Amino acid sequence: MRHSTRLEVHLERLHGNFNLLRKTIGQKDLLFMIKANAYGHGFIPLFHHAFHQENVREFGVASLGAALAARNEFPELKSDIYVFSDLELEGKLAEAYHQKGIIPVLHSLADLQHFLSIPEFCHVPLVLKFDTGMHRLGIEIEQLPELVSLLKNKGRKSIYHLMSHFSCSFNSVIDDRKTTHQYECFLQLKKELRQAGFQIERTSISASGAIEQGIGVIDETHVRPGLMLYGPSALDHQKDWTWQGKNISTLKTKIIRLFPGKKGMEVGYGHYALEQDGLVAVLSMGYGDGLPISLTGASFEHKGFTGKLVGRQSMDLSFVLFPPEAEGQIRLHDEICIWDDDYSRIFELANCAHSIPYEVFTNISSRIPRIYCLK
Ligand SMILES: Cc1ncc(COP(=O)(O)O)c(C=O)c1O
Repeated sequence: MRHSTRLEVHLERLHGNFNLLRKTIGQKDLLFMIKANAYGHGFIPLFHHAFHQENVREFGVASLGAALAARNEFPELKSDIYVFSDLELEGKLAEAYHQKGIIPVLHSLADLQHFLSIPEFCHVPLVLKFDTGMHRLGIEIEQLPELVSLLKNKGRKSIYHLMSHFSCSFNSVIDDRKTTHQYECFLQLKKELRQAGFQIERTSISASGAIEQGIGVIDETHVRPGLMLYGPSALDHQKDWTWQGKNISTLKTKIIRLFPGKKGMEVGYGHYALEQDGLVAVLSMGYGDGLPISLTGASFEHKGFTGKLVGRQSMDLSFVLFPPEAEGQIRLHDEICIWDDDYSRIFELANCAHSIPYEVFTNISSRIPRIYCLK
């Protein structure tokens, strides 16, 4: 655990993002995605905050283990917790679904067959996720007739939540037609299920990228945002950004050694030699904390000076080279803000590391304390 390096999670910014999103989606319900430890921000505190302060009643996690952790931490919170990926329907833990009121998102016909054959599941809501073109998880559209007869044989007449997921909604829907094609496929699927006599209570397909572009919102009961609520736009290209959310976290570290460096001087592991004179700041954060080696070359602003991440990072240390003029102004023990509320900084770091904002957030290791702040 480190102290001077910390991720502050500003709950008032999260509140602002919820308000902004609600203005965009009107009366639609939202299922808040808190996968991957709430995208690195800490899913237990965010689950609690979103339930009490944002009136969220539906949450999405990746695994049964995460759903159980949330349920066990706050058994009194009456909410739907959906498990999207690692269902463990066949294992011993499967009983937890009905005992703890957790909902599996069934994404294959085999899952569905198993679900329908076990009496314990008869009171668990039926949630089906279809593959409309992503080819990741999802029941294939071609399996629809088989699915219909399976459900009818078991006397099932209603589907609690029908879902699909877009594969390319981080692209503009004008430049990339895949999202529109997937959506047409989803609309057709709903129609055919209804024509087959099923009542569909809830539907959703849109995550942040599609919500920002207004696709799959009006005709569905729910949206399933993740990234946009943590701050950044989910669209890859700045030209397409319309989302005005604030990055909810501020990542800070400290200078723990500072010295003037001369061109040619070797610093850190290996034979990395400074390419110019400057002021070398050793930061108390390295790749083991979530500043990957691929970030070498990234810019860091401090007190009006721009430094560059140089050399080969260590597990818990890294080097930033500031210009020589920073001497006397940048000081030992200064706090360095790696990112703050402006989400374009997250893209800057992601682009530098050939990565995406999702990974920048989830890279922040558990050694970094998350501090929850309310203004
Ligand atoms: C099925 C599903 N729905 C919604 C989301 C949320 O996506 P985003 O963070 O792009 O809003 C995810 C993200 O992992 C997902 O897998």
